[in-house]
Amino acid sequence: MTCCHCQGVARMFDEKMARRQLRHYRRKGLGKGTWELVDAVAGDGVEGRTFIDIGGGVGAIQHELMERGAAGGTSADASPAYLAAAKEEAEARGYAGRIRYVEGDFVERAGEVDAADLVTLDRVVCCYPDMPALLGAAARLTRRTLGLVIPRGTRFMRWGVAMVNLFQRLRRHPFRVYVHDPGEVEAVLGENGLQRRHVREGLVWWMGVYGRE
Ligand SMILES: C[S@@+](CC[C@H](N)C(=O)[O-])C[C@H]1O[C@@H](n2cnc3c(N)ncnc32)[C@H](O)[C@@H]1O
Repeated sequence: MTCCHCQGVARMFDEKMARRQLRHYRRKGLGKGTWELVDAVAGDGVEGRTFIDIGGGVGAIQHELMERGAAGGTSADASPAYLAAAKEEAEARGYAGRIRYVEGDFVERAGEVDAADLVTLDRVVCCYPDMPALLGAAARLTRRTLGLVIPRGTRFMRWGVAMVNLFQRLRRHPFRVYVHDPGEVEAVLGENGLQRRHVREGLVWWMGVYGRE
């Protein structure tokens, strides 16, 4: 399953997509949802803190945390093209040496990653079938705060995602999207010692921020 997952992710988030996303990020900066996630996670300070950005894409969150004074951290992504784009931008900004780049399925690589103060998963859990494995691994590495954005668990969203997956199946593409129930997400984080601090529901996305007591 994992191998197939990584192949699907690498094909979906390929070189062409990474170049386009990096260009877009350089022109426009962070999207509104990502702003909100960074602000919520950074609520009790970023200066000198460490981070793990899981499925960070071209690195919008990591760049923002570094610009706000983070000490450094880990950028983890299953897409080699996205990871390279995140590193390219960090090199251009002069702090790539303070970030460790970890390629592959985070569930498989988590044992090699140091715990960090802030952990983020922005629209990543919806790429992964085994939510408890991914969020359990992320939560165990969280010292202070974990923030995530997932699709809302509404019937409308489930129907939309089923249509996307049908399209993917028809074009024989291995990448799939998953809707995980926010209540189940919260239970997994609770089992790993993280309590709810802040939740925000938009039309499509659900954002949750959890802290260690
Ligand atoms: C929809 S993109 C989101 C990128 C970025 N966080 C954002 O919001 O713009 C999902 C990202 O998660 C990564 N990803 C998916 N499954 C992963 C896994 N098991 N381990 C690490 N990264 C993963 C993908 O390669 C991709 O970069």
